[in-house]
Amino acid sequence: METNVLTSDKSLTYSPKLLDFTARFWFITATIGQWIFGGYIIAVYYTSTFTGDFARWNKVLPKGYVEGDWKGNLMVGVHVILAAIIVIGGPLQLIPRIRDRFRTFHRWLGRTYLVTAVIVSLVGFVMVWTRGTVGDTFMYISNSVQAIYILVFAVLAIRYAQKRQFDKHRRWTLRLFMVANGVWFFRVGLMAWLVVNQAPVGFDPETFTGPFLTVLSLFSYGLPLSVILLEMYFYAQKIQNQTFTYMTSAVILLFTLIMALGIFGATMGMWLPRM
Ligand code: HEM
Repeated sequence: METNVLTSDKSLTYSPKLLDFTARFWFITATIGQWIFGGYIIAVYYTSTFTGDFARWNKVLPKGYVEGDWKGNLMVGVHVILAAIIVIGGPLQLIPRIRDRFRTFHRWLGRTYLVTAVIVSLVGFVMVWTRGTVGDTFMYISNSVQAIYILVFAVLAIRYAQKRQFDKHRRWTLRLFMVANGVWFFRVGLMAWLVVNQAPVGFDPETFTGPFLTVLSLFSYGLPLSVILLEMYFYAQKIQNQTFTYMTSAVILLFTLIMALGIFGATMGMWLPRM
């Protein structure tokens, strides 16, 4: 994330350093966690899919490979194979050095990311409502709202790039980055909760339903907390008010620490053991 260049008189009293620091800390932490998730996707799904060992999907996904349902299996395959582009490519797009030094790469990865995000979310949407997955109807709806956000934000990001309104383009790509990572935030949030409680509190691990999962799915997908934090960050940059900047930085820092705990929990408890 970038900070504004301060040109107004407010720059005499307002310092963006803290906000800049917490945003960078958030981004570095998220990048590490997303790339571990990306490594997991490659190790589990690329290896099993390209060696024809589809049964391995079922060790991880409740409705991964279904004998005889080639259409459904193809959807799952496309979904998880393309997911790696989003999870690994997303942070790469936001690293300023890569963006500035390798402009052609940035442009092509950007186009690939947008198309991939649209395909993955549409396929995911069909998977939820045709095959079903763990969880209840509320989680299905929340997940589907996330798919709609991804489609709308991708269209807006493209539109502003075509109009060459790059500030608006940057904002919509950042919002897209947040919603496209909803599945990752959900897993990280769940694992942070399990690390803290050391037990499945507030939900039934057998049916994968319960109040905690309802709240988590709401704030990961339907009303994404990540986008709320991003909007606070944009607003803090805009109004340049010291108190609001402290508040925003503190909230970002708090969620970064929770995210770090969740990344640790997910890596040790979910991703590494399955690789
Ligand atoms: C665009 C961002 C998305 C990414 C990067 C992504 C990635 C993934 C990954 C990696 C898995 C495998 C999970 C694991 O091994 O832990 C998965 C499963 C799944 N995803 Fe997505 N996904 C995205 C969006 C969506 C959306 C928007 C929906 C639904 C509307 C969806 C529905 C599903 C379902 C139903 C499964 C599990 C299937 C089962 O239980 O057998 N995904 N996704």
